[in-house]
Amino acid sequence: MTTPIIVGNWKMNGLSADSADRVKSLLAALAERPATGTEIVICPPFTQLGLLAPQLKGTPVALGAQNCHMDEKGAHTGDIAPGMLTDLGVSHVILGHSERRRDHGEVDETVREKAVAAAKAGLTPIVCIGETEDQRQSGEAQDTIGWQIKGSLPDGFTGVVAYEPVWAIGTGLAATPDDIKSTVAFIRAELVRQFGESGKTLRILYGGSVDAGNAASILAIPDVAGALVGGASLKPDAFLSIVYAVP
Ligand code: G3P
Repeated sequence: MTTPIIVGNWKMNGLSADSADRVKSLLAALAERPATGTEIVICPPFTQLGLLAPQLKGTPVALGAQNCHMDEKGAHTGDIAPGMLTDLGVSHVILGHSERRRDHGEVDETVREKAVAAAKAGLTPIVCIGETEDQRQSGEAQDTIGWQIKGSLPDGFTGVVAYEPVWAIGTGLAATPDDIKSTVAFIRAELVRQFGESGKTLRILYGGSVDAGNAASILAIPDVAGALVGGASLKPDAFLSIVYAVP
């Protein structure tokens, strides 16, 4: 039985007071109408993890980070070790997001090393893959995704895979359900090829302009275990509509 998972990636948005208010609204709504059986995770900026951890402790909402380093400690100015995250009560970490690949030159090998370190520290890695518009236009989408799976996911991977076509992120243009369905089927086949039996049960999320209006049709796609949500996760009502759209 697959547990659905809805992840809010707040990216680099909001100050402490905004985030605390947002969490308050989410928790109040979930107390009123629980989303039993769905794993809900929010990933605020690093600077707010310590503030939100006590607010979320013992609630149905888990705390995630947006990145971590692959080393446990050392001379890495500005970086955060996986153990520093678990120390705060963080349980999940997004890795290899296309914005990190783009802005920080992260490559598959880096992502894979981070996924190993994160899992070792007890975090659930959510590894992002997805093609750019150019790759899509030139018919290289599947090859790109195939290489990303091979390169980014370590042996024995037990985390979550998030398919985020880069061209759909923040554009308001989500991939169509048919496109998502066929790409997720391709991802599943690659996971099974790479991991055998365990590849059959790894959860695959879709991300890219998921909102209150399209969530139900996306979450109803076979083998889509949930969503990785950016912009809409900053609005509690929209995020909750996505949570409640889980079939
Ligand atoms: O990680 C979530 C993301 O990149 C999708 O962002 O704003 O298109 O939902 P958005």
